[in-house]
Amino acid sequence: MTTDRRGAREPILQVKGLVKHFPLTRGVLFRKQVGAVRAVDGVDFDLYPGETLGVVGESGCGKSTVARVLMNLEPPTSGRVLYKGEDITRLSGPALKAVRRNIQMVFQDPYTSLNPRMTVGDIVGEPFDIHPEVAPRGDRRRRVRELLDVVGLNPEYVNRYPHQFSGGQRQRIGIARGLALNPEIIICDEPVSALDVSVQAQVVNLMERLQREFGLAYVFIAHDLSIVRHICDRVAVMYLGRIVETGGDAQIYEHPTHPYTQALLSAVPVPDPDARGGRDRILLTGDVPSPAAVPSGCRFRTRCWKAEPRCEERMPELAVPRAFRDSGTPAEHPSACHFAQERVRVLPGEEPVN
Ligand SMILES: Nc1ncnc2c1ncn2[C@@H]1O[C@H](COP(=O)(O)OP(=O)(O)O)[C@@H](O)[C@H]1O
Ligand code: SF4
Ligand SMILES: [Mg+2]
Repeated sequence: MTTDRRGAREPILQVKGLVKHFPLTRGVLFRKQVGAVRAVDGVDFDLYPGETLGVVGESGCGKSTVARVLMNLEPPTSGRVLYKGEDITRLSGPALKAVRRNIQMVFQDPYTSLNPRMTVGDIVGEPFDIHPEVAPRGDRRRRVRELLDVVGLNPEYVNRYPHQFSGGQRQRIGIARGLALNPEIIICDEPVSALDVSVQAQVVNLMERLQREFGLAYVFIAHDLSIVRHICDRVAVMYLGRIVETGGDAQIYEHPTHPYTQALLSAVPVPDPDARGGRDRILLTGDVPSPAAVPSGCRFRTRCWKAEPRCEERMPELAVPRAFRDSGTPAEHPSACHFAQERVRVLPGEEPVN
């Protein structure tokens, strides 16, 4: 699946060495920088046309910050975001506007991201104010109704207000707005995290259908691995501002080599009791350290059950571990761990295993 979609094509989006630090300052009059929140600290990935890249990590890992920089809502501290080879972080004026049309966003919280005083028609049609060339004034109403229909909402609801809809319906409104300008890429920042589990699958199915219909590429952000598997071709696992493991979905879900990925997987519920037998149990304890005080060496070492002195001294690079290089096995994918080891069956549980 991954190779089919990626083929020999060029990536549509390339993220290179992306860093976003927020300065920590002290003093009111003479603000002095006393440190930095290293929210994103060296992230690289490619996105290919029509594919879905999952970006997964616990809360506070820097996922939304990556999304905001990709959307050009904030400038990066350093690094580049190339859209079809052009660095969009350096664009402004009409050139930026043209690129923005092709990269849209769907937000996490459908309750706060829709203006409560605007009708659904105005919310979905708002992007046309900035890009009237996509839907000329006389054609807007028709286009908005069409968009509501595409996301499975009754076009007759066009004059209703957000509070008249359920969470799942509101997220459909957000998706309709994201589609309004016919983008090529949609950055989805935890689009189903705020929804009931029963509704999550419906919205994910809708997003998959829209992807096929419109050839969309998604960056799909989530805080756990369970929902992502349905939709992603490739997954990047983030920890404290960096990607720690990346690969095709089978590589990440069935042959993870990084302890953090293995721990995240062990939190994924297993619906089939028969499938639980013989799987490892890992418990991830403690919280993600503050990005204002990142541990030296491997940033996961304060929570890693395999940590050794070397982990404190040297930061592991994101690369295919030597043990798996040219192995031709599913474990042959980038993993930032000095002691990367394949762990095939991981089960949720209470006791850590060493
Ligand atoms: N504008 C900001 N100023 C200071 N710190 C920020 C700002 N935005 C985000 N952060 C911090 O950066 C870290 C990453 O945040 P975020 O990207 O929202 O993570 P995630 O989406 O993975 O939960 C957090 O520690 C957060 O508090
Ligand atoms: S480098 Fe060391 S601390 Fe980091 S994940 Fe690997 S074993 Fe754990
Ligand atoms: Mg977030």
